[in-house]
Amino acid sequence: MDTWSLEKAGYAPSDAAADGNRFLCANGYMGLRGVPEEAGSERFPAVTLAGVYDRREDRWREPVNAPHGLTVWVSLNGEPMTADGTATLRHTVGIGYRHGLWRRETDFGPLLLRSTRFASMADCHLLADRMTLEVREAGEVQIRVGISTDIWDINGPHLSGFRFRAGEALRCEAETGEKRITVAVSQAVQADFEAAEDIRTGPDGLFRVLTRSVRAGESLTLSVYAAVFTSQDGPEPGQAAEDACLRAKAGGFDACLRKHRDAWEAIWRRCEVVTEGDDEAALAMHASQYHLNCVAPRHADNMSIPARGLSGQTYKGAVFWDSEMFFFPMFVHTQPEIARSLLRYRIETLPGALKKAEEYGYRGAFYAWESQEGGREGCTDFNVVDVFTHRPVRTYFRDKQIHISADIAYAMSRYYGITGDRSLLEEGGARVILECARFCLSRANTHMDSDEADYADVIGPDEYHERVTNNAFTNRIILSCLRSALHLRDVFRDCPERYDALLRELRYEKDLELIRSLAARIRGPRRRSGVIEQFDGYFGLEDCPLDTVRGRLRDPREYWGGDHGVAGTTQIIKQADVIAMMALFPDDFGDDEVARNWDYYEPRTEHGSSLSACMYALTACRMGRPEKAWDLFMKTASIDITGGGKQWAGEIYIGGTHPASNGGAWMIAALGFAGLRMKGGVPELHPHLPRQLKRLTFPIEAGGRGWLVEVTHEGGRILPR
Ligand code: BGC
Repeated sequence: MDTWSLEKAGYAPSDAAADGNRFLCANGYMGLRGVPEEAGSERFPAVTLAGVYDRREDRWREPVNAPHGLTVWVSLNGEPMTADGTATLRHTVGIGYRHGLWRRETDFGPLLLRSTRFASMADCHLLADRMTLEVREAGEVQIRVGISTDIWDINGPHLSGFRFRAGEALRCEAETGEKRITVAVSQAVQADFEAAEDIRTGPDGLFRVLTRSVRAGESLTLSVYAAVFTSQDGPEPGQAAEDACLRAKAGGFDACLRKHRDAWEAIWRRCEVVTEGDDEAALAMHASQYHLNCVAPRHADNMSIPARGLSGQTYKGAVFWDSEMFFFPMFVHTQPEIARSLLRYRIETLPGALKKAEEYGYRGAFYAWESQEGGREGCTDFNVVDVFTHRPVRTYFRDKQIHISADIAYAMSRYYGITGDRSLLEEGGARVILECARFCLSRANTHMDSDEADYADVIGPDEYHERVTNNAFTNRIILSCLRSALHLRDVFRDCPERYDALLRELRYEKDLELIRSLAARIRGPRRRSGVIEQFDGYFGLEDCPLDTVRGRLRDPREYWGGDHGVAGTTQIIKQADVIAMMALFPDDFGDDEVARNWDYYEPRTEHGSSLSACMYALTACRMGRPEKAWDLFMKTASIDITGGGKQWAGEIYIGGTHPASNGGAWMIAALGFAGLRMKGGVPELHPHLPRQLKRLTFPIEAGGRGWLVEVTHEGGRILPR
């Protein structure tokens, strides 16, 4: 079995949305959805740009999709050759995970079309496609190749004022509505055949039409280069795009491909997890690592990754806690500069977080739940649409999911703990921790008649129960945030003047005392028979099986949470919450306690978020139940192969790739199966290898040193690299 590629035979228009995700090509700068070259907007083609957002009218802000520079339509004797057309005899599409190569083969009878394309890992602005047509019937071939503006948008269109120019390269420029960002796409082609050429501009874009008589047995090859730049990249995006694609054309497709492959090889050398013993697992692991690596911001040092990667505009292209909790671990252990970029994004968006806290009447930094550029909050007050009334539902993710700030502080201090690199803290990370702790301080509730401080009116990771008090996860992660703030003095012990200056600048001395006192008083978890109550009053909720609650749904797309949701009055939870806490703070809990909580909460968890299974798998490993972890691992790692996960929240489409699961797969393999822990910059192993695997190896790096971890059923070894 080829564990490095996924192939699918047949073309069902109803699969178009899922296939666009499954066969995605991306390079951190942009994502090219895996639909055929000729697909019109009804099949969800998109080139989604990282960090470029727009809002149209009163709709949700979302990332901008660029005009599609790899659009190619082929016809033979006037008959269009489209994958979903009646002439199609056979169609396969695939993605090679090793080098991010999308390929298709479509047999139309008189013509066989093959193509390969990629989003260059060596030049983030470049997309390239090589198409070969094997002609079996003589006649006239027409190829319309150009830049299509007939693109998929959820809340668009976002671009207007299109300008087209045709020369050796085609050029298309347009502006976004809100911020007037110019998006420029240029395209050049290289054909190994002579053809009559014509340029056509229409409402759907700018095209070069190549027409030629063909003989049976003839083969025509066309290489297409497209480059994308925006005015966020520099002053002359149109010229930059044209230069880039003409440069690529001059170098040729093979040279572009070689550089792209080399760049991917360099990535795999740093992070490849090799699993031996189960081919399905190896495939799923490769898929996961591909999907996470291909959306990593390698072209910038201050960007994060949206929750659906670059697979489209779902989830508003926003950055969630997924970044710190699920993407960060793989990167910090294998490619720390990317982990650094995720966190620099938070440092640079601190002003947005300070503003949000102020808006809500708090001090410090309250980070956006759905963060867009500049830390702008993308989450609205009405984030779900009711399937029955079609009315927006008031949701509280934005206002009450306060753990986000503590999650960021957690990752910020983990970065230092794992890499030993203090520079991030010096360059604003310490300030982020202090401002997050200050927010936690101002958000705490104290009582006249009790020494305990608590957190009322919050939402924990289990979003189905809104506005609860003392969510165990939230309180614990806040405690860690407070401790991180207190610990900074030690971190800067060799240069106390630096630390003191920061405290003075932030007028923090008094807060520090209050934080110390709060850390000693914050309400810890409450237990019943060893099971931690997820929040105050949780055990008093209706305790019924998951299927009973599922059976109460009247519409499969119905939202389970909130005031009217089927789960809100029951103990059924959306995703790991107490268990997520146990996974993050393993030293707080004994093995028996973890097992007792796991057995209680797992059957009550819907796993309605793709973030859930990973946390259960990690704790299952730790409990010495790798067989339980195995199923959850497979579910997590294969999510972007199966196209699983929820596609709808109420009336909102939330499909896309699942970078959090992709990161989760690495976490289960490395932190769970191998039991990797970094202690003072030195790795340690506590292996729990499931019987399905014979051997597991993966590289890690920390503090400029590299190791290869190897785990078998005989034990684990850490070899210097
Ligand atoms: C989950 C959140 C997550 C978000 C983005 C939601 O369904 O409940 O925890 O951050 O999706 O992945």
